Amino acid sequence: MAGHVLLCVTGGIAAYKACEVLRGLQVAGAEVRVAMTKAAARFVGPVTFEALTGHAVALDLFDHPESAIPHIELSEWADIALVCPCTANVMAKVAHGIADDCVSATLLACACPVLVAPAMNTRMWDNPATQENLATLERHGVRLVLPVEGRLACGTSGAGKLAPVDAIVEDALSLLRGTILGRPLAGRHVVITAGPTHEAIDPVRYIANASSGKMGYALARAARDAGAQVTLVSGPTSLAAPRGVDLVGVTSAAQMLEATVAAFAGADAAVLAAAVADYTPASPADHKLKKAHEHLSSVELVETADILATLSADSGDRVVVGFAAETNDLIANATSKLARKGCDMIVANDVSRPESTFGSDTNRVTLVTAEGTEPLELMGKDDVAHAIVGRVARLIAQKRSGRA
Ligand code: CTP
Repeated sequence: MAGHVLLCVTGGIAAYKACEVLRGLQVAGAEVRVAMTKAAARFVGPVTFEALTGHAVALDLFDHPESAIPHIELSEWADIALVCPCTANVMAKVAHGIADDCVSATLLACACPVLVAPAMNTRMWDNPATQENLATLERHGVRLVLPVEGRLACGTSGAGKLAPVDAIVEDALSLLRGTILGRPLAGRHVVITAGPTHEAIDPVRYIANASSGKMGYALARAARDAGAQVTLVSGPTSLAAPRGVDLVGVTSAAQMLEATVAAFAGADAAVLAAAVADYTPASPADHKLKKAHEHLSSVELVETADILATLSADSGDRVVVGFAAETNDLIANATSKLARKGCDMIVANDVSRPESTFGSDTNRVTLVTAEGTEPLELMGKDDVAHAIVGRVARLIAQKRSGRA
């Protein structure tokens, strides 16, 4: 994710975690510059951030080797500003428009979105003055990654601990993507299915498939970043729940059908990326089958309900998108699947190729609609997800205007 993040580090012990946050942003492709308060520089040396970013840290309004007016240049350079950690003092300054040092002056000059990750002692956090400042920041449109409860550096336990580094990085990247790429799904509710399903043979054995869930989770993040309210109906995966998404965990195809139909009732679109089992054992045993007593030479299977076809049959002006994982005749199979399932778009991918097979981090897909086929180049799953989400936004607009 290209883009510019201005990281403002303020003077609390959690300042050391800002280095990890910075690295997480850079690994995702963001360019980061740092402004620090003098107090922050007593916890972590500016040299650390200068080595990590390759740029001088803005510490002083009147003394910056790369800029005559650092607070204005940095505020104009930034796509988003992240204050991490944010002390009670800097929260108060930002809430009240005080600009008496390099960090607070830069933040006052920022027209870009600002994300604040507070960290402080529990009594400072609970103080009504801080809570009122928090409400003021929210009223001003400042985004927050709220602190969590935990053991604090001052030896006590309670609220005020900096949110986990991963959470701060994810929220910052989400804000950055939405800021740079736009939010074509703002005000929309999108349902996404992901992962495999497990069909029970007995309480400890099941039939499953190799789906990792990565594509569906990437879609959930992309739809969230594009401004949508997202319900992610997920089969069993090892993936972390995306932040800011309603995750509904299911196991079987029958459970996925029920949860997806329920969520689709109030939605604008559904993107069904799950690898749903086509068959399920007809009569799963209610006890663990014993090799010695119950000779299991075959399992009788029955077909599962087709969620994609079920949603498409009753979609009205809502958009339904399915996936086609094929090993041969990709476009022909996807085109006939589009007609058979009655959906608005099929995302076709050739799972016989290593770069677009189950579990990979990349995908090469072709979007198939009634209008024709649109092959996309090989991309990371996050970029593929973003392209699909953009197409979904257009399909919603087309359907709503009666053009599809
Ligand atoms: N799908 C679904 N419910 C099912 C099976 C599949 O919603 N019970 C959805 C998947 O989430 C995906 C698409 O249908 O979006 C994939 O269809 P697929 O399983 O490939 O379709 P089939 O009709 O089984 O076709 P094939 O036999 O060619 O694989």
